[in-house]
Amino acid sequence: MAEPIHLPVMVAEVVRAVEPQGRRVLDVTVGLGGHAAALLDAGAALVIGLDRDPEALHLAARRLEAFGDRFEPVRGTFRDLARVVGARRIDAVIADLGVSSLQLDHAQRGFSFRLAGPLDMRMDPEAPTSAASLLASLDEDGLTELLRRGEVGPLARRYARAILAAMPTTTEQLAEVVVEATPPSRRTTRRHPATLVFQALRLAVNDELGQLTALLPAAFEALEVGGVLAVLTYHSLEDRLVKRFFEVAERGGAPRTTPAGSWTSVLERRPRRGVVPSDDEVARNPRARSARLRVARKLAVADLAPAWEREVHEWLALR
Ligand SMILES: C[S@@+](CC[C@H](N)C(=O)[O-])C[C@H]1O[C@@H](n2cnc3c(N)ncnc32)[C@H](O)[C@@H]1O
Repeated sequence: MAEPIHLPVMVAEVVRAVEPQGRRVLDVTVGLGGHAAALLDAGAALVIGLDRDPEALHLAARRLEAFGDRFEPVRGTFRDLARVVGARRIDAVIADLGVSSLQLDHAQRGFSFRLAGPLDMRMDPEAPTSAASLLASLDEDGLTELLRRGEVGPLARRYARAILAAMPTTTEQLAEVVVEATPPSRRTTRRHPATLVFQALRLAVNDELGQLTALLPAAFEALEVGGVLAVLTYHSLEDRLVKRFFEVAERGGAPRTTPAGSWTSVLERRPRRGVVPSDDEVARNPRARSARLRVARKLAVADLAPAWEREVHEWLALR
């Protein structure tokens, strides 16, 4: 069988940001190893590749075999970061968020409304809760809240009601229920009506925003002073979280209301707003379309956990 293909996004930009020559890099979303391979090719001394998907990890390990012990695959989630790093010195952390083509394009994994498969969506197939079992555990208010948090919009309750009435167990059934529940005035040619519902469910099944919330301070903590944190985001929810973390660190953990100039930054964004892929790349790789690469350099040691907890609490209260 042909090897699954996942075209890595903004590889040149990631390599440029990390300056990997002789450095020790933690790739927390190693996937099929596209970014890891480029970093190793460019001279990284070590790439630790973390992923919660054992199949991806197996394929990455095979692909990167030639690099010997310069590549270290580790199964786990963002919450395991401190354990994975231990006392080691880390010069760069990279995160390429979301799902890989291995997951999205494989019908049996149940991520895509374009492919018929079980309603699964687990990045780690051994995790206890699939999308179908999550749906079966929710009432109308619970599912409405899940869809609202996934920014499905004003149709959240209507979708929740329709989904719970039909209780779909396959991707096709869920897509059909959502299409039928979408009023004609809300249908657009730009986006399939099920896009945001599938994304909201996927985010919940894999606790993606909770994982990202835990990742950011742990990655900052693991970095040497001068080290680089590079995060590729694909939708506004994850992008806003990363931006907020960078802002908290830029203020040295001081509250948002603290006047500028009265704090010491412990992180510097480079560039401030991040970078997006070139038109050429988007034409070659449609998955890059919504990507934004946010890069920052650690300037000093700091305990950002309390400030970050406060920030996330405020953010959740606003949503
Ligand atoms: C977009 S893909 C990465 C692709 C990779 N950069 C490449 O070039 O092949 C994201 C990967 O991160 C993994 N992942 C996402 N969230 C994770 C988490 N919280 N903990 C561990 N792995 C995660 C997914 O299983 C998936 O394999």
